[in-house]
Amino acid sequence: MTTARSDAFVFFGATGDLAYKKIFPALQAMTRGGDLDMPVIGISRGGWTLDKFRERARDSLQHNGGVDEKDFAELSARMQHIDGDYADPATFQHLKQVLNGAASPLHYLAIPPSMFATVAQGLAKSGCAKDARIIVEKPFGRDLASAQALNRILHEVFGESAIFRIDHYLAKEVVQNLLYFRFANTFLEPIWNRDYVDSVQITMAEDFGVEGRGAFYDEAGAIRDVVQNHLLQVTSLLAMDAPVGRDTESMRAEKLRLFRAMRPLDPKEVVRGQFRGYREVAGVAPDSDIETFAALRLHIDTWRWAGVPFYIRAGKCLPITTTEVIVDLKGPPLAIFDKVKSTQSNYFRFRLSPEEVIAAGARVKVPGEEMRGSNVELVAHHAPLREKSPYQRLLGDAIRGDATLFTRDDCVEAAWRVVDPVLGGHPTDGSARVDPVSIYEPGTWGPAAASRVVAGSEDWHDPKAETSAPC
Ligand code: BG6
Repeated sequence: MTTARSDAFVFFGATGDLAYKKIFPALQAMTRGGDLDMPVIGISRGGWTLDKFRERARDSLQHNGGVDEKDFAELSARMQHIDGDYADPATFQHLKQVLNGAASPLHYLAIPPSMFATVAQGLAKSGCAKDARIIVEKPFGRDLASAQALNRILHEVFGESAIFRIDHYLAKEVVQNLLYFRFANTFLEPIWNRDYVDSVQITMAEDFGVEGRGAFYDEAGAIRDVVQNHLLQVTSLLAMDAPVGRDTESMRAEKLRLFRAMRPLDPKEVVRGQFRGYREVAGVAPDSDIETFAALRLHIDTWRWAGVPFYIRAGKCLPITTTEVIVDLKGPPLAIFDKVKSTQSNYFRFRLSPEEVIAAGARVKVPGEEMRGSNVELVAHHAPLREKSPYQRLLGDAIRGDATLFTRDDCVEAAWRVVDPVLGGHPTDGSARVDPVSIYEPGTWGPAAASRVVAGSEDWHDPKAETSAPC
């Protein structure tokens, strides 16, 4: 295990969609912040040259946040490129030369998981894995069995402390604030349990489809793409007990306990949808049964949460792009004044993106002689701008060897165990366990059947355009 700061950044999948949208902007920002004082080596197949690689980086920045000529010149000067097949030992021999004696390289695998083993073994055989760290992108496997197989493969080459599994949601500022807000205040803890919380809803809505990612998405679907990772991670931060310390392993220990208390999903409590037109997207099978929408009810079998439903919903082509959590509180024991649905007036709201908001809903009296009230929101935090993008933060953390915001093998496997019974498409054990997808119209909140998931509780809270003002 190495504790040294990484001294080379090696980047597999450098010509891909993720690199284009997120990684080059993060690398430019890291250059500006002085966090990337090392060679940046891109590896890809398909006959690319260094010039083409630099052009791609510039084009990416032009479309994702803008080129800063000074920072780009510095980044560009650090960039090197290797054109080679990941299955060819010569690619890794070339890498060894280009690394030029780097003592502690960081290898970033922004490639399909089916290539992880080949690359890990190529790195090992060429000596490039010695004292190195490796970052792997989600999806980490297709289901529990394949995630376990991947972990075994990576562990043949890298110790767990050298493996950094990225879930960029964990580095969102307000997701971190969720944890801080919960455990830095005393007023939440007494009510943060089954006695006061009626239900929890998490909605991740996107008003766009899967253009440009059809082939990837059609292998995944919403449950693998965002529920197994981003949304279960957010759930764990909402529901876990206080860690005994702020260090990486104390945090992970509490999260793991929570993941293990999540009951595997019941196919009867899951509704999958597909937006009309998905099957015409390039790369998507004409008879695809992959879900672009999922709504589900999760149970957490702990003393704190027994009986409190956690409703999770994610979808493409919905009316708005936002991720929002609503923690609905139970009502007062008696309605002395006006009768209102307590869950629409007493709640906590966490807007995770695109704005960052923490708010509490309450009732106050309307001025006048009558004891009538109206709903208000007390806004604790509203910050429209992030200091660092999640990728900038995570890549910087990995370079320093700080694994706090990365996911450990046992947590990843525990999360797969939760979603395993409801995976559509082609689970590795060949079983099909869920109902076929229901078609929904783009721009709606998914199939009507989704209301079945919350039946007996109330309705889904459809997030609206943010109206609270920055504090
Ligand atoms: C990715 C998913 O992990 O997260 C995408 O693969 C999704 O499908 C994206 O659009 C959303 O992340 P963000 O940070 O852009 O909201």
